[in-house]
Amino acid sequence: MQQQTFYWIAVTIKLVLCLFLWLPGSQASVSFKPNIVLILADDLGIGDIGCYGNETIRTPNIDRLAKEGIKLTQHIAAAPLCTPSRAAFLTGRYPVRSGMDSTSEFRVIQWNAGSGGLPPNETTFAKILQKQGYITGLIGKWHQGINCESRNDHCHHPLNHGFDYFYGMPFSLMNDCHITKPPEKDRALRSKLWLLTQILSLAVLTLVVGKLTGLVSVSWKIMICFAWFDFLFFMSWFSMYGFTRYWDCIMMRNHEITEQPMVLERTASTLLKEAVSFIERNKHRPFLLFVSLLHVHTPLITTERFLGKSRHGLYGDNVEEMDWMVGMILEAISTEDLKNSTLIYFASDHGGFLEAQEGKAQMGGWNGIYKGGKAMGGWEGGIRVPGIFRWPGVLPTDIVIDEPTSLMDIFPTVAHLAGGTVPQDRIIDGRDLMPLLQGRVQHSEHEFMFHYCGVHLHAVRWHQKDSGAIWKAHYVTPKFSPEGAGACYRIGICPCFGEGVTHHDPPLLFDLSQDPSEASLLSPGTEPQFDTIISRIERAVEEHRRTLTPVPQQLSLYNIMWKPWLQPCCGTFPFCWCDKEDDSAHSTV
Ligand SMILES: *[C@@H]1O[C@H](CO)[C@@H](O)[C@H](O)[C@H]1NC(C)=O
Ligand SMILES: *[C@@H]1O[C@H](CO)[C@@H](O)[C@H](O)[C@H]1NC(C)=O
Ligand SMILES: *[C@@H]1O[C@H](CO)[C@@H](O)[C@H](O)[C@H]1NC(C)=O
Repeated sequence: MQQQTFYWIAVTIKLVLCLFLWLPGSQASVSFKPNIVLILADDLGIGDIGCYGNETIRTPNIDRLAKEGIKLTQHIAAAPLCTPSRAAFLTGRYPVRSGMDSTSEFRVIQWNAGSGGLPPNETTFAKILQKQGYITGLIGKWHQGINCESRNDHCHHPLNHGFDYFYGMPFSLMNDCHITKPPEKDRALRSKLWLLTQILSLAVLTLVVGKLTGLVSVSWKIMICFAWFDFLFFMSWFSMYGFTRYWDCIMMRNHEITEQPMVLERTASTLLKEAVSFIERNKHRPFLLFVSLLHVHTPLITTERFLGKSRHGLYGDNVEEMDWMVGMILEAISTEDLKNSTLIYFASDHGGFLEAQEGKAQMGGWNGIYKGGKAMGGWEGGIRVPGIFRWPGVLPTDIVIDEPTSLMDIFPTVAHLAGGTVPQDRIIDGRDLMPLLQGRVQHSEHEFMFHYCGVHLHAVRWHQKDSGAIWKAHYVTPKFSPEGAGACYRIGICPCFGEGVTHHDPPLLFDLSQDPSEASLLSPGTEPQFDTIISRIERAVEEHRRTLTPVPQQLSLYNIMWKPWLQPCCGTFPFCWCDKEDDSAHSTV
C-alpha cells in the first residue's frame, strides 16, 4: 500500500518535472523574447520553390529553411495585390477594415506623391513590438504610402508605423523604373486621367465664358475648384510620361532620400548589406526585422552572377538570386549565434503574375497546380502562397501543416511572442499560430476566410472541421482570355467588377480538400449537401458584413492622384535627384 503511494508520488514528481522540462519550449514565448525575422517576397508563386514541388528551379536555402522548420501548404494572402495584402499583413486585419482595398480599378498605391496610405491610427505589429522593447527594422519595399498633406509629413511612412529603422523603397519596383522596359503603370489610369482632364477643361472654359457673358451664374470659388482638379488630373497624367523613375523609383534611409532615381544594379546588394548590418548591430537585444524583398517583381533586376544561370529564363534567374539572398540572411543569423533565439518566417505577398510576359517569355511566377494568379481575389493561385516557419528547439522540424492559415496570423502571433497584446478596440482577423505550429492543437482557428478583390467579395472558404472538407464558394470570377489558360491577358491584370467578371448564382462550389486545382465543379446533383453548404457560407458572409464599418477610402481617385506638393524630393522640387549611397554614413540604430 505504502509502496504504491510512494510510486504515485514519484510518478507525480516525474510528471511535474517533465512538464517543467518541456515547458521552456512553449514558455520560451513568455519568458524570453525571440528575435523575429519576417521575409516577404514580392509576386513569388507557390510553384516557384523547390520544397513546394518545383524540380527544376534551385531554391536550396528556402528548402533547407522548410526542412528545419514547418511548411504550410494552405497559407493564404488576404488580398491578391501588394498594397492591400501588405496592409493586412502589417495590421492583422482584412484590408477593407483600414480602407486599403479599392472600390475602383486602381487597386494599389500608384505614386509616392499620392495622399492615400496605411492610416496612422492603424496598429502594425512593429508598433506593438516596439512597445515591448524590440528594436524594429524594415528593409525593402513598403508600398503603403508616404505623405498626407505636405511633402515631408511622412504620416504613412514606416517610421510612423512602429519601425525604428527603414532602408528601402517607399514604393514598389516596376517596369517603369527601368529605362528600356515597356511601362507597366496602369494604362487605364492614364487614359482615364486624360479624359477627365479634357472634360474638366471644357467645363471650366464653358463656365468662364458663361460667367463673362452673364449667361451662367456660378461663383468664382466653384470655378477655381474645377480648375484646380483639372490641373491635378493634368499633372497626374503628365507625370506618367517618363517621370516615374524620378518620382517613384527612389530609395530612402529613414526620412532621408538616398537615391533618386534608385540605381537598380546596386539595390540587391545594398538591401542585403543593410539587413545583415541590422542583425549585427542589434544582436544583443530582441529585434524585429522585416525584410520585404523587391524580388521577384518585374522588371526582374538580377545581378551578373545569376543572369542566364537558371533553367527558367530571367524570371528563374531572379528567383534563384532571391533564394541566395534569403540564404545570406540566414547565414548572418547563424554567424551571430542567433539561430535558436530567432523565429524566421518566409512567405510571398500573393500569387505569381501570370499576365507578365515579354514576347513569349514568362516574366511572372508560377502557381503550381493552383488556378489563376496575382490580382485574382478568388482563385487559389492568386492567394495561396508559400509559408515557412523556423525556430529550432521551439517549433518541430521538417513537418507540413495543411490547415488553412493566413498572412494576417503573423500579427497576433508575433504580438504574443513579444509579450504584447493585440488592440482590443478593433477587429483582428488573424489568429495566433503558435498552438498550431507547436502541435498543441490539430486545427487552425480559421473556419471561414473571405477572399476579396478590391472591396468586392469574390469567394469564401469554409473549413468544415468535423468533416475535414474545405469548401470554396465563388460568387464572382474574372473572365479568362481564350489564349491563356487562367490569365486575363487582354486587360493587363484581371478586374474585380464590371464587364470583365462573371457573377455566379448559385455560387461555384469546390471542395479544396479533394480538388485543390478547383477543376471539378460541384452541383446539387454531385454534392448532396450543396444547399446546406451554400446557406451556411451565406450566413457567415452576413455575419462578416455586419462587422464592417465605413472608413475613409485610402485608394480613392483623389487619394491616389499625383500631387506635386506631396512628391518626395531630393533637391528643390521639381529638380529632384541625388545619389547619397556612396558617402552616407550608416545609421547606428
Ligand atoms: C518551376 O518554376 C518555373 C518558373 O516559374 C516554372 O516555369 C516551371 O513550370 C516550374 N516547374 C514546376 C514543375 O512546377
Ligand atoms: C539549438 O537548438 C537545437 C534543437 O533544440 C539544439 O540541438 C542545439 O544544440 C541548440 N544550439 C545551441 C547553440 O544552443
Ligand atoms: C481611424 O480613423 C478613421 C477616420 O476617422 C476611422 O473611420 C477608423 O475607424 C479609425 N480606425 C481605427 C482602427 O480606430
